[in-house]
Amino acid sequence: MSTTSAPDREAARRPLGVLAALPQELGDLLGAMRAESGVRTVTHGQRDYYVGTVQGTPCVVTLARVGKVAAAATVSALIHVFDVEAVVFAGVAGGVGKDVRIGDIVIADTLMQHDLDASPLFPRFEVPLLGISRFTADSTLSAQLNAACERFVAEEGSALATRFATLGPRVHRGLIVSGDQFVASAAAVQALRDALPDALAVEMEGAAIAQVCFEYGVPCAIVRTISDTADAHAPASFATFLVEIAGAYSTGILTRFFHARA
Ligand code: ADE
Repeated sequence: MSTTSAPDREAARRPLGVLAALPQELGDLLGAMRAESGVRTVTHGQRDYYVGTVQGTPCVVTLARVGKVAAAATVSALIHVFDVEAVVFAGVAGGVGKDVRIGDIVIADTLMQHDLDASPLFPRFEVPLLGISRFTADSTLSAQLNAACERFVAEEGSALATRFATLGPRVHRGLIVSGDQFVASAAAVQALRDALPDALAVEMEGAAIAQVCFEYGVPCAIVRTISDTADAHAPASFATFLVEIAGAYSTGILTRFFHARA
């Protein structure tokens, strides 16, 4: 028989770090945390970190803001200040794969920085002195996210498609590429396809998070909903998707993810 109470055991567990770039990409996660356990806010490095539980899982939730440096700094604080046991990132991305449509979901198996190029000193895309260009997401966490996404799509996909006039969402797994650019032209997205033919989605944080997590031995997983197809329509499509749709996806996916871990 355990001699510790459930709250004591929760407090003893290392928290899960959950982050997004922008508030809409967190969905209702903070609301759920407030309702369940209350939220303690810790400010560090000009960011607020929200500490509490979600469906019994101790969590530290925060916003990285946009870009690789912002993401690396934030995940570094999650690791060093909050001692997170693992990291999950949720947000939107531009579709790059030919078969990846707006409203689809992509879970990263691997991530790389598409704008990292120290050639001819090092091979294009390779992180100098680390000798790695592709970082691997944690297979267990990614499988849990994948199951949550499949359940979300099965239960809410057709209603979402009707509500937002999108096609029925599908779940993809594969390469997500990250860079410090919002990709918004047919030429730029074609250049990405030419350079990295297996890339499914492009965003601005994931590979930086994966690199920092790799360097500190912290498991991480990244899930992205496709808000645009990284072409000339991307700015308008991104803005509408972020405000009107992204939250419903993040809430639907993360609720099922935490439910399965509870
Ligand atoms: N995030 C969402 N859409 C994006 C795009 N087109 N480029 C970079 N990051 C994105």
